[in-house]
Amino acid sequence: MTAAWTKSAWRSKDRIQMPDYTDPAALKAVEARLSSYPPLVFAGEARQLRAHLAEVAEGRAFLLQGGDCAESFEEFSADLIRDTYKVMLQMAVVLTFGAKLPVVKIGRMAGQFAKPRSAATEVKDGVELPSYRGDIINDIGFTAESRIPNPERMLQAYTQAAASLNLLRAFSQGGFADINHVHAWTLGFTQDTPGYENYHKLANRISESLQFMQAAGVTGETADALHRVDFYTSHEALLLEYEEALCRIDSTTGLPVAGSGHMIWIGDRTRQPDGAHVEFCRGVQNPIGLKCGPSLSESDLLHLIDTLNPDNAAGRLTLIARFGAGNVGEHLPRLIRAVEREGRKVVWSCDPMHGNTIKSDSGYKTRPFERVLREVREFFAIHAAEGTHPGGVHFEMTGKDVTECTGGVRDVTDENLADRYHTACDPRLNASQSLELAFLVSEELHQRREAQRAAG
Ligand code: PEP
Ligand code: CO
Repeated sequence: MTAAWTKSAWRSKDRIQMPDYTDPAALKAVEARLSSYPPLVFAGEARQLRAHLAEVAEGRAFLLQGGDCAESFEEFSADLIRDTYKVMLQMAVVLTFGAKLPVVKIGRMAGQFAKPRSAATEVKDGVELPSYRGDIINDIGFTAESRIPNPERMLQAYTQAAASLNLLRAFSQGGFADINHVHAWTLGFTQDTPGYENYHKLANRISESLQFMQAAGVTGETADALHRVDFYTSHEALLLEYEEALCRIDSTTGLPVAGSGHMIWIGDRTRQPDGAHVEFCRGVQNPIGLKCGPSLSESDLLHLIDTLNPDNAAGRLTLIARFGAGNVGEHLPRLIRAVEREGRKVVWSCDPMHGNTIKSDSGYKTRPFERVLREVREFFAIHAAEGTHPGGVHFEMTGKDVTECTGGVRDVTDENLADRYHTACDPRLNASQSLELAFLVSEELHQRREAQRAAG
């Protein structure tokens, strides 16, 4: 795998989970247009994120990655982006407080449009059609016409990603994320819900500290870090025609960079060591995520690490463990030990979503909140036992008040799922479930710090 890399070399490898476009001329035309457009992110930002993730790998920072399972063209609005962003800020504050570490914030936003599917077709009322593969590929409507992959959709995805990113940058840099607004990040519908007292208490403590600092002369004007945040974007690099068309050469380093988002990841279904997705990702300098599910062997993991991070640079590779509650003990220790034995520098992150999807009695695809919590606890317990750093968490969540995952303090029951089940793909945590989870993670991080202090 040390052969020279080109942005098109993936085309000679086995490709799975990607559409077969029926009109090659239309596809070529879209690729040509995208290739001429500006990249969405710049190489310097991707390098900066790598540097932040290197801090996570070394145990000096914590990673929070979250957002939609699949962004949708129809649901696109400024309010939705703002609300999801607010929930991410709330979670980050809670985590910072528990960990007493900087929290690196990455959205599954501004580019998370392509979905791998377990089944190639979907059957409804005896009719079988190709599966929906995300808005960048085909349409969710259940008609034969809707399900035909259309390359033109890549242009709409690009436009939506550009507009989303523009807003996220404005929020992050323009004062909205100023820590003095910590009280204002809550959402109307969550103000009085159980669980939010904890957030308000925390926000009060932060406000008090800020008043003290202000009195001592430290304000948003004198300390930029209070006024702005770094917020990065990420998505699964699944649709390689799109990724290739947005790949650029960084003029500073002369190295290729994926221009579609700051971080890209390889899914659990497309991580074949000799497959097209690994081939594309190995050549770009962005931070790369790799989903690690129960079928990943130690030898494949080490092979993938060699391919994706041959220089063993901290911050390049984030391993996103997603085994399912009850299965973490069987898989995480063997992978951690392989990585430690070989001295590989990685970020370990926990995705407690994708191994915990079930079909509810009422027929909805859901995730029981207690299983999500349990997987997070198992992840922390194993890192404590192995003496390694539980680097971060990876969630599917939204600022919308949806009823997609069961459980939580505002108990969503199987019967409630139908109320506001809006996801285009997998069930997401709603705002209050996300915050509840952040408090759990924060408590785990706090306990870890206490244990480390006690051990001297
Ligand atoms: C996802 O993150 O949306 C996803 C499909 O994950 P995985 O590849 O881990 O199944
Ligand atoms: Co998903």
